[in-house]
Amino acid sequence: MERGRYIIIDGGEGCGKSTQIRLLKEFLDEREIRCVFGREPGGVPEAEAIRSVCLNKQYDLAPITELFLFEAARTEFFRRVVVPSLNAGQWVISDRSGFSTEAYQGYASGLDLGLIRQFNNLATCGVRPDISFIIDVPVEIGLDKEVAPDRFATKGIEYHTRVNAGYREIARANPDICVLLPYISGGIDRTQEQIRNVVRKRLLGFS
Ligand code: TYD
Repeated sequence: MERGRYIIIDGGEGCGKSTQIRLLKEFLDEREIRCVFGREPGGVPEAEAIRSVCLNKQYDLAPITELFLFEAARTEFFRRVVVPSLNAGQWVISDRSGFSTEAYQGYASGLDLGLIRQFNNLATCGVRPDISFIIDVPVEIGLDKEVAPDRFATKGIEYHTRVNAGYREIARANPDICVLLPYISGGIDRTQEQIRNVVRKRLLGFS
């Protein structure tokens, strides 16, 4: 049985990840590729419960607490969804990943990146994505689009500027995996076309 593929869509606040994932799902469905979809933090009920703590605006959490919570949620998601699905030949499409922890808790909050990568590795059982699309949205545009800002969306422009700079650094450091997509205003379809082209070339074997 050929292992499934693991694709991530990641990026700063309001970058339009969920729309791109919905459109990518249509593309994969048309090709009858068996996929499971998930999000981080989340993807299984236990991790969704952790998510509601992480995002609750009434809570004040230290960055290290955030790190533990995101890694705990990731551990459950990987052991129960990602690893078994990939082993069963299914593709996994995920909204966010360990790169979010590098960008938010690492580059933006200043936690040690080596430590974060070690935790990511433990939580994911060492599974690396086949492709990570990172949508690079200007901070003001992204934050403006948040209709119901969660605890992270309220952290301010400087924090989110560091998040986005972190994502660009992550893309540079992982050129074999990451595809950095500049946000195109009003360009949902063009961004999706770029995503599909990369999936066609890298995972479906079209040149
Ligand atoms: P999400 O629901 O994707 O937010 P949005 O759609 O508003 O971008 O993500 C949840 C929030 O959790 C998001 O603000 C980023 C944050 N986050 C981290 O700080 N570290 C992590 O490891 C993950 C997975 C998410």
